Amino acid sequence: MPFAETSMRRAIDILFIVKAIVFVLFIVIYDVILTLLNVVFPKRLPIAVVPPGSPGAGGIWPPYLPPRKTDSRCSCPALNALANHGIIPRDGKNLTFAQMTDVIRTTYNFSMSFCLFTHNAFGVIFKRDYKTGTFQLSDVDVHNAVEHDASFSREDSHFVKDQGAPSASRIRGKVLPAATGAGNELVVKDLSNILGNMRADSKETNPEYTQALQHRLIGSGNASNLLTVFGGRVDDLRTFLVEERFPPGWQPRIRERFGFTLLKFFPLVLKIELGVPKAGKSGVKRVNLDEESAIKETQMRCATPMMTMLHSVHDALPDSEKTKIVDDLVTI
Ligand code: HEM
Repeated sequence: MPFAETSMRRAIDILFIVKAIVFVLFIVIYDVILTLLNVVFPKRLPIAVVPPGSPGAGGIWPPYLPPRKTDSRCSCPALNALANHGIIPRDGKNLTFAQMTDVIRTTYNFSMSFCLFTHNAFGVIFKRDYKTGTFQLSDVDVHNAVEHDASFSREDSHFVKDQGAPSASRIRGKVLPAATGAGNELVVKDLSNILGNMRADSKETNPEYTQALQHRLIGSGNASNLLTVFGGRVDDLRTFLVEERFPPGWQPRIRERFGFTLLKFFPLVLKIELGVPKAGKSGVKRVNLDEESAIKETQMRCATPMMTMLHSVHDALPDSEKTKIVDDLVTI
């Protein structure tokens, strides 16, 4: 390689590293400031976490419609729920990182520092430019980038290639019954136990099973979102994880004025990860898939033609009538 070309490459690499260091420093300082402001300012009211003017304000969510066959969905229930409610395009396509930063901040009450950090990181992982890059939801499912084995709501990709749809039996049979909180909520040790069980099960059954350190931490990070955004509440999580929709009237349980910061997030991730039982099986109570959940799962699989019809009806309605009625119809 000619000398000039090598020097140019090296200069670009150095510039990239310097930019990354400056960005991380900026995020750390910004995050510390927001964490301190959260201590000083009063929390948001439980019924007014989503800011006025944003979808979901006052617990009124745009109508939910399950995805059509042609829609793009991914392994993340939080992103799918945004598309299922039309908060981002329902087809899950042509998304920008700036749009996601904004929507995730207002919908789930994550801090600006958290959103900027994670979305820039996703840009790097998925090789897209934060400012100009677009993506569709299924793009985030590159196996062993962020998507990984032993998840809460998906069978391993060795068994189910399309990671866009949740496994109701997994959620109803292995996740929700593990709750030991006094008000039927998942607490830290429950999530550690579930992760331990899922990893042990995958190791036993999946010949391609891998779980690098970063995937363990991503798994614990996702668990911490279930604890913080949903307060671990089983009733809300059943709707969110199985149907990828927001329960009517729902608001994020994170009530800090400036949102959930990285400084709060990382210690919780470590606490969950360090609590994962080392020996594999953790003794968490196991519940067989009951008849009701088996029926529900079959219904979800058979419902596609009905959903397509509902989408057409919904699209044809005038804006003033695209109301909760569609929501109610789907529930029936
Ligand atoms: C642009 C932002 C986001 C991206 C690109 C993203 C991506 C992903 C991916 C690829 C997974 C699959 C990981 C696995 O294999 O288990 C995942 C899982 C998950 N995400 Fe997200 N996510 C984002 C934002 C969020 C937010 C804001 C929440 C907060 C509620 C969230 C909650 C979850 C949960 C709970 C899981 C675990 C699902 C499971 O284990 O089955 N995500 N996310």
